[in-house]
Order: sequence, then C-alpha cells, then structure tokens
Amino acid sequence: MLGNLLELYIHDLSDVFPGLELGPDGRFGYDKLPLYWSEPERRFAFIVRCGGQIAGFVLATRGSPAATDPEVLDVAEFFVLRRYRRSGVGRQAAVLLWQRLPGKWTVRVSEGNAGALAFWRGVVAGLTGGALTEATRPGHPHPWRVLSFESEPLAPAEAHLGQDP
Ligand SMILES: CC(C)(COP(=O)(O)OP(=O)(O)OC[C@H]1O[C@@H](n2cnc3c(N)ncnc32)[C@H](O)[C@@H]1OP(=O)(O)O)[C@@H](O)C(=O)NCCC(=O)NCCS
Repeated sequence: MLGNLLELYIHDLSDVFPGLELGPDGRFGYDKLPLYWSEPERRFAFIVRCGGQIAGFVLATRGSPAATDPEVLDVAEFFVLRRYRRSGVGRQAAVLLWQRLPGKWTVRVSEGNAGALAFWRGVVAGLTGGALTEATRPGHPHPWRVLSFESEPLAPAEAHLGQDP
C-alpha cells in the first residue's frame, strides 16, 4: 500500500524536482521502502488515517542526512492526499509523529517547495514555541532548508497515526 502512496507523492514532488522520471513500468519506484521493514529500529513508516480513510503517510528515520549524531530523527517523506489538505491533517500527523518518537529532529525541505516550507515552519514553530534553528544546504534545483528542533512526548491527540504494518 505504501508503495502506491509513494507514487502519488513522488508525482506531486515532480513539480519541484523536474528531473524525476518514470521507469519503464510507469512507476517512479522507491528503492528504500523495503528497509522500513528490515530495519525497524531505525526506520518508521506510518499511514495517516482520517475518519477511517487513508489520508497520507509518513516515513521517518533515526539518523539524518543533515546531522552527524546518528540518533537524530529525520522526516524522510511526508504526504497528505490532496483531498485532505488545508484541513489540519498534516499538522496533526506531524505532531503525533514527534510525540510518538520524542527527541532531536530534522526536517529537510526544498526551497522550491514553497507550500511545504510554509507548512513546516508554521508547524515546527507551533510545536516548539519558536525553539528551532534553520539552516541552508546546497541542493538541486533549489537549496534545502533544514529545520532542527526537539520534541517531547505529549498526551495523545485525536487523529490516528497507525504504524504500517
Ligand atoms: C505540505 C503538506 C504535507 C501540508 O499538509 P496539509 O494537511 O495540507 O497541512 P495543514 O492543513 O495541516 O496546514 C497547516 C498550516 O500549514 C500552512 N500550509 C499548509 N500548506 C500550505 C501551502 N500549500 N501554502 C502555504 N501554507 C501552507 C498553513 O499555515 C496551514 O494552516 P491554514 O490552512 O490554517 O492556513 C501537503 O501539502 C503535501 O502533502 N504536499 C505534497 C508533498 C510534500 O510537499 N510533502 C512535504 C515534503 S518536505
């Protein structure tokens, strides 16, 4: 199921990263997906559900490409289906993620993905009360913004973030 959702996500991101090409089978593919089952202590896959329906997914890793400390957590991929956007689903899913896996986090977002950048800045600032740092890293076709912050375990909220499987 996650493989199918990744196709929708990557297609969306091909607006930002025009170099993304389909394979001969008509799929983008996501080579690292099997690692989310073979390395369960360092890779975490979640389905976001809204009223019982699939509304998106989250992939997170322990170990971030933007941090030297191997324990720093990273949002690898994050997707809300178009049907559910701008209704707070993404914000709630992100907060549930950071509660579920408390600790030091990085979020990496392309400067070309203006909507996602506004989303992450707002959600992380809301979670931390502004206690975040932001840095720029080289990237193609746009630089990356890296948001770094720390999350605490909090009381569970109402949305459902089901780990898959
Ligand atoms: C980015 C994304 C996850 C946001 O999910 P969402 O469920 O729509 O976000 P929310 O409804 O929780 O938004 C919370 C706030 O973030 C900001 N925000 C969200 N999307 C935004 C956009 N496209 N443009 C500007 N601000 C945005 C707004 O302040 C919003 O609050 P408001 O709707 O009351 O104004 C979703 O658009 C998505 O999946 N995009 C495609 C994949 C992607 O880019 N993923 C991130 C990769 S780094």
